[in-house]
Amino acid sequence: MSAFAFVTPTWDAAPWAAAMRQAAPHLNVRVWPNMGHVNDIQYAACWLPPANVMTGLPNLKVIFSLGAGVDAILADPTLPRHVPIVRVVDPDLTNRMSEFIVMHVLMHHRQQLRLNENQRNGIWQAFTQHAAKDVSVGIMGLGVLGQDAARKLEVMGFQVRGWSRSAKVIAGVDSFAGPEQLNEFLKDTDILISLLPATPETDGIINRDLLSKLSRAGPFAAPILINAGRGRQQNENDILACLDDGTLYGASLDVFTQEPLPKTSRLWNHPKVMVSPHSAADSEPLTICTYIAAQIAAFQKDKSHSNQIDRKLSY
Ligand code: NAP
Ligand code: GLV
Repeated sequence: MSAFAFVTPTWDAAPWAAAMRQAAPHLNVRVWPNMGHVNDIQYAACWLPPANVMTGLPNLKVIFSLGAGVDAILADPTLPRHVPIVRVVDPDLTNRMSEFIVMHVLMHHRQQLRLNENQRNGIWQAFTQHAAKDVSVGIMGLGVLGQDAARKLEVMGFQVRGWSRSAKVIAGVDSFAGPEQLNEFLKDTDILISLLPATPETDGIINRDLLSKLSRAGPFAAPILINAGRGRQQNENDILACLDDGTLYGASLDVFTQEPLPKTSRLWNHPKVMVSPHSAADSEPLTICTYIAAQIAAFQKDKSHSNQIDRKLSY
């Protein structure tokens, strides 16, 4: 019998193991550190695996990420080089992310922070609400998640543009690609979204230099930032300074350089910021385990698997 191991030292793996037993009753499911005979383990799912654990599985055939991102796996410098890494691509996770993106675009667009403040103070004050057609939303990262969010925002009437490594053709969405088109992408973006993966190339990309290149011609005369990619992409001191001096009008941050966000961070109480605890698109255990079980079945049948990351690109 093939064995499957969860190696998730920072998560409670119990609900995941239960979901995996339900999704693939034929698999022998183990949870680190109780790995049993390591020679039996052919498949593993991990998140921040401790050094030397994955490399200590001599018969490992596929490593599964429990999310769309793989940075928490690639952070292990001892990870075996030859084993493919498969990430999550699933409509449930994608829909959750698009819900988050559409909700935050709309909350900024419809000035919900201002309405909340007025409600707290018992102030009945209607103010100008702007048309979606007059607002340009730019998505950095036009992959699985970025493309779905782009389509849904386009349907709502926003001007939508995206930036990725390679150019895309998506109806109603302007595509920009590579470092050479980044400035052109930024200059007409009123609401900037990051759905980029964390890679050496994207680390720190959201900094004062980038934020100061965004459009100031939108309805609020200053741009808005929404980051649901990874915290490593953002310089939080720059973001705070840009909010304070008006370079940025507002921000929604779901991811942070340090998670949980330290209690001392000024982002918690900043009046122009909406904070969420890295929950834009949760991985639901049974959904993800069903996806992994299907991948294992395909692999056992003909050695195929899909959604393997490119180690050289780190995503
Ligand atoms: P994906 O399909 O791999 O898409 C990544 C996109 O980023 C692609 O369009 C890619 O360009 C682009 N990209 C990568 N490096 C780039 C660079 N240096 N310059 C320009 N574009 C670059 O990934 P996904 O499934 O959409 O997920 C994206 C990320 O969302 C994940 O890696 C994860 O960090 C984050 N995420 C967050 C949450 C949350 O709850 N906050 C949940 C799920 C995922 P190409 O298309 O040209 O390759
Ligand atoms: C969550 O952050 C994921 O990468 O799916």
